[in-house]
Amino acid sequence: MVPADVAAVHALERRLFPVDAWPLEMFAAELAQPVCWYWVAEQDGEIVGYAGLMCIRPVGDVQTIAVVPEHEGRGIGSALLRTLHAQARELGATEVLLEVRADNPRAQQLYRRFGYEQIHVRPRYYRDGADALIMRLDLAAPGAPCAPAAAAAPTDPTAPTDPTAPTEETP
Ligand SMILES: CC(C)(COP(=O)(O)OP(=O)(O)OC[C@H]1O[C@@H](n2cnc3c(N)ncnc32)[C@H](O)[C@@H]1OP(=O)(O)O)[C@@H](O)C(=O)NCCC(=O)NCCS
Repeated sequence: MVPADVAAVHALERRLFPVDAWPLEMFAAELAQPVCWYWVAEQDGEIVGYAGLMCIRPVGDVQTIAVVPEHEGRGIGSALLRTLHAQARELGATEVLLEVRADNPRAQQLYRRFGYEQIHVRPRYYRDGADALIMRLDLAAPGAPCAPAAAAAPTDPTAPTDPTAPTEETP
């Protein structure tokens, strides 16, 4: 994500997060942060998803992740999440944390497939009174997934892999 993307991303943000949309200035401020990294997913020149990571070693935080409804269920969310994990690993993170609405089972399911576990609940965290679940992925665990467990099953280490996947383990 670059500053020129912010207006389009913000339009999507208002549509996808009607209760808790970030103000436009917040995206601009995040892009300027040296500890934050943001990506957009594009199809035919249109932004169809976006995601952001903050990383202050050894902890990465998923700041946001979203895919437009017309493009859900095609693996874009998973690809964005893999990108965040790869960046977190590269920066030396050993764990990744995120907050997700308790009433958002779809997103929770995505995170669980990647190995995230619920570690905490923040009651009435969101503006409309919904609880937040705090979820954690242990990147340092042996065999910690960067891809969902099902997709990571038996592998040929010499086979081509997702270009966003990490290429080396962080000690
Ligand atoms: C949560 C969210 C980011 C997921 O994005 P996505 O692009 O739909 O995610 P994926 O396609 O990688 O995976 C979602 C599902 O599609 C399935 N899928 C992935 N690739 C697929 C493919 N090629 N064909 C069919 N199904 C596929 C996955 O198995 C998964 O199944 P599930 O519904 O059982 O979880 C998206 O739904 C979203 O933006 N929601 C609104 C905003 C939001 O809630 N963000 C999270 C805030 S914490």
